[in-house]
Amino acid sequence: MSALKLPKKDENVVQTGEGCCGGPAPEGVAACCVKDAEAKAIGEEGYGCDTAPVQASTSPSACCGTTSSQPPEETSVAISESGASLSNAQSNDSVRQAVRQQYGRVAAGDEGCGSGRGGYDAPMANAAIESQRLGYTAEDVRSVPSGANMGLGCGNPQAIANLKSGETVLDLGSGGGFDCFLAVRQVGDSGHVIGVDMTPEMVSKARDNAEKSGYQNVEFRLGEIESLPVADDTVDVIISNCVINLSPDKPRVFSEAYRVLKPGGRLAISDIVAFAELPEVARQDMTLYTGCMAGASMVSDVEAMLRASGFTEIRVAPKDESKSFIRDWAPGTDITEYVVSATIEAVKPAT
Ligand SMILES: C[S@@+](CC[C@H](N)C(=O)[O-])C[C@H]1O[C@@H](n2cnc3c(N)ncnc32)[C@H](O)[C@@H]1O
Repeated sequence: MSALKLPKKDENVVQTGEGCCGGPAPEGVAACCVKDAEAKAIGEEGYGCDTAPVQASTSPSACCGTTSSQPPEETSVAISESGASLSNAQSNDSVRQAVRQQYGRVAAGDEGCGSGRGGYDAPMANAAIESQRLGYTAEDVRSVPSGANMGLGCGNPQAIANLKSGETVLDLGSGGGFDCFLAVRQVGDSGHVIGVDMTPEMVSKARDNAEKSGYQNVEFRLGEIESLPVADDTVDVIISNCVINLSPDKPRVFSEAYRVLKPGGRLAISDIVAFAELPEVARQDMTLYTGCMAGASMVSDVEAMLRASGFTEIRVAPKDESKSFIRDWAPGTDITEYVVSATIEAVKPAT
């Protein structure tokens, strides 16, 4: 698969049709290549386009003919500025379904880390090396059960979480459990760690890892971060690594985080955020979306969502050095002109 070349921010992009199979566009389809990427993410055949340098166009002549049995209107997903899905026929659930399928494949080992990032021809990442690029130590990597670290993070939330003995920690989108197993070391036997992930294969993998290694005070729950399977006011610290960008309903994620935190509880998150508005063609690309790039919200939107949920002491700190690895997630594109990894911290007021 060839890489998507994102249009430059101020470039007047011309629809080219490059990479499409030619032939008439399906009725109602403006940007069939984008639809193809999305279709692939949910295991559909798509429209026969393997590359997607095409901006939505009113002229269908350069678009490709459909090979999908699905009506084209039902495969369109538009991502709003706040990250919400606005498609006419697809809901936030179908965005989550595409993400779940992608990470199910990653957990099952059918896809490597590069492809886990969205199907680009990135070199297969070595999870251990990748994690050390993110700020984890070699000892961190060695200390977790084998298979827990899949190199899917974009930072190191432990570095800002300041976890203490006896605390209850919740990891949003825990994947194979890497950050949970590290958190257990910090909170000790009197603490408790809960990982929540919506992908059954990830939860199974994390539970197997916990069982094999005899962890007592870490558990993994199947659930969506927009509807947390966690009681009100029970968590001291919420960590998360490269997950919230994948949510089609981020305001809901932050309000759920607020609900489950104890008064005085805190957020310590690493995530991808945008510092320039992504072009619409990129926002609609489900390969970039499941790869943790297209769903990134603007820093100011993240701050506003946190404020609206009731958080205080909000701090979003972009890490410019992260561009060196984000570049590898979508080689040949100018994705690093739009998104960056950041730490996100906030506090639920004590009273
Ligand atoms: C990029 S991986 C990161 C995994 C883990 N945090 C790590 O650093 O290894 C994203 C994870 O978030 C999960 N996820 C994505 N969206 C989610 C949602 N809305 N609710 C729950 N889990 C979600 C996926 O299933 C996947 O395991």
